[in-house]
Amino acid sequence: MLMIGPHRIEGYAIVSADGMIADGSGKMPDTIRNDADQRFLQREMDRAAVVVHGRHSHEGGPRAGDRKRIILTRQIASVAPDPSHPHALLWNPAGAKLEAAIAALGAADGTIAIIGGTDVFGVFLPLYDAFHLTHAAHAKIPGGRPVFPEVGPQTTPQDVLARRGFRPGPRRDIDAAAGITLTTWERANG
Ligand SMILES: NC(=O)c1ccc[n+]([C@@H]2O[C@H](COP(=O)([O-])OP(=O)(O)OC[C@H]3O[C@@H](n4cnc5c(N)ncnc54)[C@H](OP(=O)(O)O)[C@@H]3O)[C@@H](O)[C@H]2O)c1
Repeated sequence: MLMIGPHRIEGYAIVSADGMIADGSGKMPDTIRNDADQRFLQREMDRAAVVVHGRHSHEGGPRAGDRKRIILTRQIASVAPDPSHPHALLWNPAGAKLEAAIAALGAADGTIAIIGGTDVFGVFLPLYDAFHLTHAAHAKIPGGRPVFPEVGPQTTPQDVLARRGFRPGPRRDIDAAAGITLTTWERANG
């Protein structure tokens, strides 16, 4: 297990059949929004010690304001309070280690939840203990933004995870009618 102090690191994404998390303009289309996936995500965020994301990937929802969060940005040098979110810290990985950001935030023990977007999911690929990949089989987003930078016409998100040493758990049909499945990939050599 790859732990940062007492923390497990877990990633969460819903992807289209072609591995995209948003369209080319950086908007998440309704074709990959799903209530069952949202319920899963919100439950997981409630139990996370810290939620981590890029400046455009806030998860929203009624309890979002109570969650401790770290927001990646290059607009500051290292770490700084976020004037618009009282429980949040702005973090530039080029200027400070994740451990320093976690300590500055005073986060409790528990999971560090990584929720995107593309570059942020990529930064954490060497560090995830598990990645929760929701798949929307009926949606395609040509020209969209991939879940990981390496995803492309010849490379699926599942390929990327497998090459990085993750192994898939059982596939769960969380909304069979809508073609939505959830698979948790665990790091095999952890
Ligand atoms: N389907 C899904 O599961 C899922 C998941 C996440 C997001 N999304 C969607 O994807 C879209 C946003 O995508 P995005 O890729 O633009 O998102 P993003 O990662 O949330 O935002 C990009 C910004 O985050 C900061 N950032 C990212 N990587 C950084 C790094 N390594 N170091 C420092 N700062 C960094 C930069 O902020 P500054 O410009 O401030 O420097 C960058 O402009 C939204 O529509 C969102 O809803 C979907």
